[in-house]
Amino acid sequence: APTMGMSSADGFFQGTRAALAGGTTMIIDHVCPDAGSSLLAAYEQWRERADSQACCDYGLSMDIPRWHESLREELEALVKDKGVNSFLVFMAYKDKLQCTDGQMYEIFCTVRDLGAIAQVHAENGDIIEEVEAEAVFRAITIARQANCPLYVTKVMSRGAADVLAQAKRKGAVVYGEPITASLGTDGSHYWSKNWAKAAAFVTSPPVSPDPSTPDHLSTLLSSGDLQVTGSAHCTFSTAQKAVGKDNFTLIPEGTNGIEERMAIVWEKCVVPGKMDENDFVAVTSTNAAKIFNCYPRKGRVAVGSDADLVLWNPKATKIISAKTHHSLAEVHGVPRGMYDGPVHEVPASVKAAAPRVAPCAGKAAAPPVRNLHQSGFSLSGSQADDHIARRTAQKIMAPPGGRSNITSLS
Ligand SMILES: *[C@@H]1O[C@H](CO)[C@@H](O)[C@H](O)[C@H]1NC(C)=O
Ligand SMILES: *[C@@H]1O[C@H](CO)[C@@H](O)[C@H](O)[C@H]1NC(C)=O
Repeated sequence: APTMGMSSADGFFQGTRAALAGGTTMIIDHVCPDAGSSLLAAYEQWRERADSQACCDYGLSMDIPRWHESLREELEALVKDKGVNSFLVFMAYKDKLQCTDGQMYEIFCTVRDLGAIAQVHAENGDIIEEVEAEAVFRAITIARQANCPLYVTKVMSRGAADVLAQAKRKGAVVYGEPITASLGTDGSHYWSKNWAKAAAFVTSPPVSPDPSTPDHLSTLLSSGDLQVTGSAHCTFSTAQKAVGKDNFTLIPEGTNGIEERMAIVWEKCVVPGKMDENDFVAVTSTNAAKIFNCYPRKGRVAVGSDADLVLWNPKATKIISAKTHHSLAEVHGVPRGMYDGPVHEVPASVKAAAPRVAPCAGKAAAPPVRNLHQSGFSLSGSQADDHIARRTAQKIMAPPGGRSNITSLS
């Protein structure tokens, strides 16, 4: 991801290697063309980089930085000749990438006609408060009007997730993607006294400061209200983040997550008993393969499908960060030492990102624990042998909570 004359700290080689190490066997990266430049040219540039470096299969999704009529043909060529089937529009980054509602409607209509899927970076770029939920609602409204399926990338807050869940229940074709960061952590770290640590969490939409957010998102993911997990992996070194040490709007945005994604979803959803292993496979693999048109080549274990197999040890433990951090509750004036480490060099003409607003803290609730993944009972997923009556019989013979034994009861 190019930003302010820098590139993210890892390229396709390290990024895909990290993905594989974490159990992800295919990635979808975003092509980020410069505003006003050719989408096809940017696509070729990404292909060239990725083909020479990637060590797992990859797909490309196209960002649309600035809409104009003449892009219609490029979109068509990308879909028909290159197999790209998702296009991202931005509702934030005012005066840079931000789309108007009218443009969004036009793009959604074009995407619908091509049989592709529209993605939104949902943030209200004009009003940076309550931004995410409002933007999600607006994107859904426009997508319904255009009759275009919608994929909301980076679901970061309870509000945004709730809007998605409600729309889904009313029949809208919308998919929501919480990411490693929103499922695994909260925004309390923005108050860290350690500048480098606070800066590491800077991304957009921001990680929610409400500490109950990861639990809420994992619940909606487990219930099917949210369907896919991503990582929005975009890493910058501390020295690169430090470009914004005197002006936080210049901190390059993004968090890691490609390597941690699978383990975080397991830990937050399967371990507390919200989700069984089949749903785990669905939200980390199968659903994405279906939405992005890779199924059944990807996302399925079957004759003819790619043998992208992951062996998962449910008993393994792993430490991502040794320190557990307790946040400060103050909204303003965090006293902290000045960052005095190295600062990455950038061209003088750097542009600012949209201003961010400091969040407020709340309280978390302890999740209930039940052991769903040791039961043979499951409502999830469709399989090749679904038509065989055996499954029904199994449910009666071995219901959750144990086998019934009438004889011993009477
Ligand atoms: C921070 O940077 C932005 C963009 O360059 C600029 O508009 C803003 O005035 C700066 N803020 C401060 C306090 O220097
Ligand atoms: C019921 O449980 C008892 C004691 O474990 C066992 O001996 C018996 O065979 C069981 N009956 C059935 C029908 O499973």
